[in-house]
Amino acid sequence: MAITGELETRFLGQRVIYYPSLNSTMDVARQEAQQGAAEGTVIIAGEQTAGRGRLKRAWLSPGGSVALSVVLHPDIAYLSSLIMLASLAVVHSIETVTGLKSQIKWPNDVLINGKKVCGILIESDVRGDTVNYVIVGIGINVNLGVADFPDISPIATSLSDELGREVSRVSVIRCLLVEMERLYLDLSAGGSLYEEWRDSLVTLGQKVRAATGDMVYEGRAESVARDGSLLLRGPDGSLTRIVVGDVTLRE
Ligand code: BTN
Repeated sequence: MAITGELETRFLGQRVIYYPSLNSTMDVARQEAQQGAAEGTVIIAGEQTAGRGRLKRAWLSPGGSVALSVVLHPDIAYLSSLIMLASLAVVHSIETVTGLKSQIKWPNDVLINGKKVCGILIESDVRGDTVNYVIVGIGINVNLGVADFPDISPIATSLSDELGREVSRVSVIRCLLVEMERLYLDLSAGGSLYEEWRDSLVTLGQKVRAATGDMVYEGRAESVARDGSLLLRGPDGSLTRIVVGDVTLRE
């Protein structure tokens, strides 16, 4: 895949390891990170046979989709912003390459017309205040006839389904890497992604069901805090902070 040639980044994507088929890019990225891979190393799979999603779910990524993981070594101060960074980079790249508008469903699913087009999984190794590494895994349904996958077809879409034509996976990946680096450098220079991320959330103001651990809360998604957590107003007026979880839109 012609990813690195003349890629306009300083470090992100300057080393790409490509596998036509792989169990999960997360596993290879973790091994690379443990062996001291440079910041910005990217693992890309043509297809994944055991892709992983959030909350121990499986992630379907047959050929035609984009599946990649990026190794980062951020300061601990930016850890909670990486969710915002990854989802905003995807939203920007989808629009740049295809013209399609997408939204973010808290915490970091990317939707087009209410259906999921991209999932993001972040795994990290943090000891005390030291971040050994973070792996940002991104899966985008690019050229995928979602109707062929009944398990996901009611809730998922792809760029090709939305456009009615195929999209260059290489263009999507190159744009994504450039955008991720731009936002990462912005963050490191003291910038904030919070406002734009908050304003891109389709979740706020909506009635939702939020599952976190064994608990399920229903209420209205009122706001998000700067650390990325969701504030949910219950029917009794109480406010619950959801740090990790999953929301279903009820309206
Ligand atoms: C989710 O929505 O649950 C997150 C899905 C994350 C999928 C990506 S695809 C690339 C990377 N490798 C994986 O096994 N998972 C992530």
